[in-house]
Amino acid sequence: MSAKIIDGKAVAESIRGELKRQVAELKTRGVTPGLAVILVGSDPASTSYVTAKEKACQEIGMFSSDNRLPAATSQAELLALIDRFNKDPRIHGILVQLPLPKHIDEAAILLAVDPDKDVDGFHPVNVGRMVVGQEAYLPCTPHGILQLLVRSGVKLDGAEVVVVGRSNIVGKPIANLLIQKSPLGNATVTVCHTHTKDLAAHVRRADIVIAAAGRPNTITADMVKPGAVVIDVGVNRVEDATKAKGFRLVGDVDFQTVREKASLITPVPGGVGPMTITMLLYNTVQSARRPVISRP
Ligand code: GUN
Repeated sequence: MSAKIIDGKAVAESIRGELKRQVAELKTRGVTPGLAVILVGSDPASTSYVTAKEKACQEIGMFSSDNRLPAATSQAELLALIDRFNKDPRIHGILVQLPLPKHIDEAAILLAVDPDKDVDGFHPVNVGRMVVGQEAYLPCTPHGILQLLVRSGVKLDGAEVVVVGRSNIVGKPIANLLIQKSPLGNATVTVCHTHTKDLAAHVRRADIVIAAAGRPNTITADMVKPGAVVIDVGVNRVEDATKAKGFRLVGDVDFQTVREKASLITPVPGGVGPMTITMLLYNTVQSARRPVISRP
């Protein structure tokens, strides 16, 4: 039997509708939620993400400050810009698109963002708050995945979850959220990575597979337990001469075969991607409502 598709676009639209109403309400009180987006360099994937984030802000009535800096921007210049936004009362959220050029120390940049405006949830203060179960800005992709699971009726309590990938942006935080003693956690989580000895053996045990390895076809049908829920976080460009842009997007999961074994699956595009941007809007609106907020 073919899996039911989790429509990330539809879930994202319904949350954005609610956020749009909250923005309108804030505006009646003289507050327009504002997001500063900073992109250093012109990496094509980052440029397209940043453009989508700015467009999404405008669509729900938020203010966005678009800052596209040359690749040669110095660390001192970037720190000065962040400092300006930290002090700017029109700005409630600051997003520095990653990765940064090699000459910039990413850790120093993330540390420079005011934790109360850290709508990416990447500042160590927010990461720490999340890990110990305190209120924090939750990182957008993991928070989006949680929302997709919960809104699709997936039982997390006691579920065997296998996360493939250990990045700071997805793998580590989603594992942390899912083990929290919380109605949106209480799962048993295994995190696999490039040094895992037998990836297939781990994935085969999973009620829920979260693929965030950044490599096409990491998860194939033979690795998936019948009826498992499969969340594909991968966004990989593969050459495709039939497409106008010369490439198409695929996830980390071999979608066509895995969908025949799974009970629920997210597509790429149209699964996790729209949720990431939506949770960024969510964090920024919460920031405009009060300084620090948010639990899943
Ligand atoms: N690069 C890839 N994903 C993200 C994200 O969620 N936020 C930022 N700032 N950079 C990214």
